Amino acid sequence: MASSFGKMFNVTTFGESHGKELGVVVEGVPAGLGVSETDISFELKFRKTGNYLVSGRREDDLPKIVSGTFNGKTTGAPLTIIFENVDAISSLYGEVSHKPRPGHADLAYIKRYGLENWDYRGGGRASARETISRVAAGAVAKKLLMLFPTYVAGYLKGIGPKQTSGDVEAGDIQESKKYQTRSLDSSTDREFTELILDAMKKGDSYGGLVEAVAINPPEGLGEPVFDKLKADLAKAILSIPAVTGFEYGLGFDASRMKGSDASDEICLKADRSLGLKKNLSGGMLGGISTGETLRIRCSFKPTSSIRIPSRTIDLSNMQPTEISVTGRHDPVVAVRGVSVVEAMIAIVLADHSMRSGKIPVVKLEKEQSELIERRWKEYIARCS
Ligand SMILES: Cc1cc2nc3c(=O)[nH]c(=O)nc-3n(C[C@H](O)[C@H](O)[C@H](O)COP(=O)(O)O)c2cc1C
Repeated sequence: MASSFGKMFNVTTFGESHGKELGVVVEGVPAGLGVSETDISFELKFRKTGNYLVSGRREDDLPKIVSGTFNGKTTGAPLTIIFENVDAISSLYGEVSHKPRPGHADLAYIKRYGLENWDYRGGGRASARETISRVAAGAVAKKLLMLFPTYVAGYLKGIGPKQTSGDVEAGDIQESKKYQTRSLDSSTDREFTELILDAMKKGDSYGGLVEAVAINPPEGLGEPVFDKLKADLAKAILSIPAVTGFEYGLGFDASRMKGSDASDEICLKADRSLGLKKNLSGGMLGGISTGETLRIRCSFKPTSSIRIPSRTIDLSNMQPTEISVTGRHDPVVAVRGVSVVEAMIAIVLADHSMRSGKIPVVKLEKEQSELIERRWKEYIARCS
């Protein structure tokens, strides 16, 4: 079961929903980067369970750095971060052990690994509990990106019937950290909250649309043919559980447009550097970053675990049956999905920045390390 992503900033996640521990090994982090459990916790709190709008599973989500740092800084050795599972209740999954849940990975895991090897407790390895490891690695990547500085931010653009429209200024997107639904203003936050509560009451769920940006990305990132930046971003985002679609720039709207409307006009910016007037291509041309804001969107499907009964097969007698999934679930996974999207973008950008020689691969100079620390503190203050 391959579980690694990235070539130079390489992330390997491990662990299952109801295992003892889970975590991540990040290889390739240059020496000299300040990384603390507090830094990682800052990003993790936006993916945390336990409030009334998301899954009620009460995990501490306390990161433990067990290798790769000395005196608070990376040494260049593999950085390992682990988490304990403290609130897994496997008894909630008795029925699931013989009734694969529609929309989950259950059926596919049984087909691939065999029923006898299937860890049905909380979705096992397919569980989105795994995404805690991505957000932890993403925190390290976000910190490295402070070198430029590049800021990655995402927000929830729509839930089920309530989709917001229009372009959002990239700089405003960090505001989403202030709202529990990860929307961008208090009235949308209220509307999203009502929809989520309504879905919960009815035992149903909604899908969601997430938009994310990377502000001030380095230009020239991405290999020109197969390892294009857009291809690696698509892979990273589509690897997130429940993501069903990915687009960047004009995205699927491009198929309905005329060339004259979709022309990404080239201009001279105030500082006389070459730029794009409208940046319709989401910060990438030919799969290579142009230095303009990178912008992607992705859709999350409605949470599959719903109380409303769905048809399945009882594996104990191979008869058609129903399952109503109770227990603790996110009614709209896209809410917590926002931080996972941010993390995966940061990981791809850190990886490609190292591959392009824009982030040192062995060690950071003292001044670089200090600059990163200063900018990280400012970022935390702004987003708190
Ligand atoms: C942050 C996050 C939380 C999730 N929480 C749940 C959940 O509580 N219940 C559920 O049915 N699916 C949840 N999912 C989605 C499932 O993990 C996912 O649909 C399942 O593993 C099947 O994978 P697929 O949808 O990519 O095919 C969550 C996804 C994310 C990103």
